[in-house]
Order: sequence, then C-alpha cells, then structure tokens
Amino acid sequence: MARLYDSRKRILVTGGAGFLGSHLVDRLLAQGHEVLAADNLFTGTKRNLDHLHNHPRFELMRHDVCFPLYVEVDEIYNLACPASPIHYQHDPVQTTKTSVHGAINMLGLAKRLKCRILQASTSEVYGDPAVHPQPESYWGNVNPIGSRSCYDEGKRCAETLFFDYHRQHRVEIKVARIFNTYGPRMHLRDGRVVSNFITQALTGEAITLYGEGSQTRSFCYVDDLIEGLLRLMASPEEVTGPINFGNPVEFTMIELAERVLTLTRAKSKLIHQPLPADDPRQRRPDITLAQKTLGWEPTVSLEQGLGETIAYFRQLISSLSPH
Ligand SMILES: NC(=O)c1ccc[n+]([C@@H]2O[C@H](COP(=O)([O-])OP(=O)(O)OC[C@H]3O[C@@H](n4cnc5c(N)ncnc54)[C@H](O)[C@@H]3O)[C@@H](O)[C@H]2O)c1
Repeated sequence: MARLYDSRKRILVTGGAGFLGSHLVDRLLAQGHEVLAADNLFTGTKRNLDHLHNHPRFELMRHDVCFPLYVEVDEIYNLACPASPIHYQHDPVQTTKTSVHGAINMLGLAKRLKCRILQASTSEVYGDPAVHPQPESYWGNVNPIGSRSCYDEGKRCAETLFFDYHRQHRVEIKVARIFNTYGPRMHLRDGRVVSNFITQALTGEAITLYGEGSQTRSFCYVDDLIEGLLRLMASPEEVTGPINFGNPVEFTMIELAERVLTLTRAKSKLIHQPLPADDPRQRRPDITLAQKTLGWEPTVSLEQGLGETIAYFRQLISSLSPH
C-alpha cells in the first residue's frame, strides 16, 4: 500500500499494554508514527494506555500472539510475554507458548510483510551465569527443567527462531537482551524487587530481603531502555544483535532497600526470607556492544529513576485505597 508520509510508519507493538510496551508506544507516537498495540491483557492493563484514549494514531487490539495476526505494518516490536516470575509461573505452558508460538507468528508476519522485527529477549537467557559481567558471546547456564525454565528456555527458543528466520528466510531481525528494568507502570506486587520494596515501604510493611540480601542486581530506568530499543530498531540491517541493554552499575539488595527507605522516608523494618529456586546470585550486563554499535548507555541515575517510580506508586496506591 502506498504510504502517505515516508517518515511516518505503521508500527505493531505486541505486549503494548504492558510496562515496557506502553512506554514504547508513547515514544513511537511522540515520533509521529501510527501504532497498533496487540495485547491479550494477561499482565498488561488498559490503564497504561488510558491517556491515549481517542488518540488519532493509536489503536489497541485484544489479541493473543499464540494465534496468527493478519495486519499491515512497517515494523514489529515483539514484547508480548509475562515478565515477572509470579506471572510467568502462573501458567508455565502458556508462557512457553507465548514465547515460542508468539515468535513463530510474529516472524511469519514479518516474513510476509518483509519488515523488521525486534525481539524483547532477556538476561534470563544467561541463567545463573558463571561469567561476570555477561557479554553477548556467553551462552549461559540455564536449568532446562526448573520452575523458571518456561520463561528462560522459551526466550532462548525465541532467539533461535529469530536467527533461523533470518538465515533461512532473510527476515531483518533485531534481538535485544533486556536486563532488569524499572519505572512507572511496573506492576504493583508482581514480586519484582523494585516494585516489592517500594510498595512495602509506602504501605508501611516490612521490606523482604531474600537470603542475606547480599546478591546484586543492576537496574535500568525504563526511558533509557526504550531509547536503546529504538536505536537498535533504527540500526543498519547487519546489526542483528543479540545486544545487551541494562545498567552495569550493581547494587546489593540491602543497598537498594536502604535507598528506597531514604527516598520514601519510610520506617519499614528489613526482614529476611529464604532464596527462591534458581534465583541468580549476580547478574550484570556487559554493554560494550551497545556502546560501540549504537552509542547507547544508561543516563538516568538510580535516585532519579527511583524518585519517578516512587511518585507513580504513591499515586497508584492512593487511587486504589478506599477514601
Ligand atoms: N521489565 C523487565 O525488566 C524485562 C527484562 C527482560 C525482558 N523483558 C521483556 O520485555 C517484555 C515486556 O516486559 P514487561 O516488563 O513490560 O512485562 P509486562 O507483563 O508488563 O508486559 C507484557 C505484556 O505482554 C502481554 N502478553 C502476555 N502474554 C501475551 C500473549 N500471549 N499475547 C498477547 N499479549 C500477551 C501482557 O498482557 C502484557 O501487557 C517481555 O517480553 C519481557 O520478557 C522485560
């Protein structure tokens, strides 16, 4: 179909009602594109897109990526997949299907349309890594039969499919390996550490540390991450990834809890609980490739990012509580 404006694209975002997806939708609309979000609303919510109600260039479609989708678009961002352990372990078979069948369906669409497709992969493909920090060349250390495997192995298989469609059918692919990302519109009580700590602090509950709390994580603010995905999508054809996106600055869980307490001015106690199964002890991205290839690195400090996220949760919690 002839295009009206060369610079305006029609872009499909699967998982567009989710945390990352809704921020990506906002950025793409701000760039002047038309955006179609396809989401089965399993973990996503229309509330994340409420502000786009009646937006002339935006459409939300209720669709499960396990089924084929017939639409006409110029680019696809495939983000559909529950991302937190509580969500993806709720129906593990569906989680694997979403990653694997979802990848097949969206790659099939990209093949037919001859358009670019970006996969939201994950640092979980590295499993419990034996190499620190993790470069893209590290093949990972993943348990194939554990309770997290539906997510980790599903995402690994999706990467395989992306590269096979690329080699076999010459589909233009972009694979982003996303490390822990946080920010407004994260789920309340999804078991992820940032949302857990903030919710616990704001509601005056004790802050739960798993194990000693000495395990480290690195946290990337959502705006930085979305900038990385946009740069990857716009990169030359030969740049396929996988490319790591995340913040290489590491914090222990105790340090994170203390920052949340300072910023919320909460008085919550810290309590310890046993470590969940297959919980990686340490994970940190090597972002050299993203720096060299895309000129990308995180710019938002943990204080700034936590401040925005706390403000969001404060408002959300007060809107949910009875007056
Ligand atoms: N947030 C992170 O730190 C992080 C880290 C690594 C990778 N990722 C990846 O980024 C993507 C988005 O994650 P998020 O944090 O925004 O999670 P999220 O749960 O907020 O968003 C996922 C979205 O996908 C939708 N979805 C789930 N199954 C679907 C299906 N079968 N069909 C259609 N839609 C479906 C959900 O309803 C939701 O809107 C996921 O693919 C996730 O694996 C996120």
